[in-house]
Amino acid sequence: MLIHETIAGLRAARAGAGTVALVPTMGNLHEGHIALMTQARAHADQVIATIFVNRLQFRPGEDFEKYPRTFEADCEKMAAAGVEHVFAPGEAEMYPQPQTYHVDPPSDQAGVLDGEFRPGHFRGVATVVMKLFQIAQADVALFGKKDYQQLMVIRNLVREFNLPLEIVPGETVRAADGLALSSRNGYLSASERAEAPRLYQLLSEIAAEIRQGARNYAELEAKAMNILGLNGWVPDYVAVRKTLDLQSPSAHDSKLVVLAAARLGSTRLIDNLEV
Ligand code: PAF
Repeated sequence: MLIHETIAGLRAARAGAGTVALVPTMGNLHEGHIALMTQARAHADQVIATIFVNRLQFRPGEDFEKYPRTFEADCEKMAAAGVEHVFAPGEAEMYPQPQTYHVDPPSDQAGVLDGEFRPGHFRGVATVVMKLFQIAQADVALFGKKDYQQLMVIRNLVREFNLPLEIVPGETVRAADGLALSSRNGYLSASERAEAPRLYQLLSEIAAEIRQGARNYAELEAKAMNILGLNGWVPDYVAVRKTLDLQSPSAHDSKLVVLAAARLGSTRLIDNLEV
């Protein structure tokens, strides 16, 4: 496995790599990332994984500074997963001067749900992902469904800019008790970790009720928000949306996803479940 810290170095390696599958990450890798990398193997001759904690997608006061940086452990995991190339640029390599051009996703996609509570987040994501696509020139890129809204934004970015690569989604990987794996789970105290699976339980209950015919989505959302509140969470949203565009469904829409974001102590967790 080769580690590249410069764009020039990665491009030189990419030139001789045949077809390439890209797995962008911010590091602190868990089984969910590794599953994406393993899945990536099936899509191309070589896999490039990237590790870059992208300042642009964090708001002031969020966890950019304390975001866990675990490069050596990450490299062991990527090597074991058979990754050929790691792109791990420093900030000066990705942003040699302040980024003044941005990819600005439309507000009906990037200003709702997580975008409402993290203004500018998806602009930061779309901008760095566009840069990573230009740098790696991959044929395929993989993103987890855990960040469902991010996946939608990136799919639309690729479509609307006619980028010549395919986006492949990866299923969310969960702990045995249902908690979606996330780098931020490491922030949870022992008691918070014990409480955390409630988020997925509630999503599962809503999905089950919808499958059984429930159509009063607002009531289902409010009930779950209330239960979270009673158990010490500060919920940002619980929302039933259409899978295609994450807009609110009408009673006859059938392809739905339930999404939630809530804070437990100082940790903000997100999760979702397709119905
Ligand atoms: O999902 C992530 O880890 C990040 O948002 C991404 C896609 C690597 C962009 O920084």
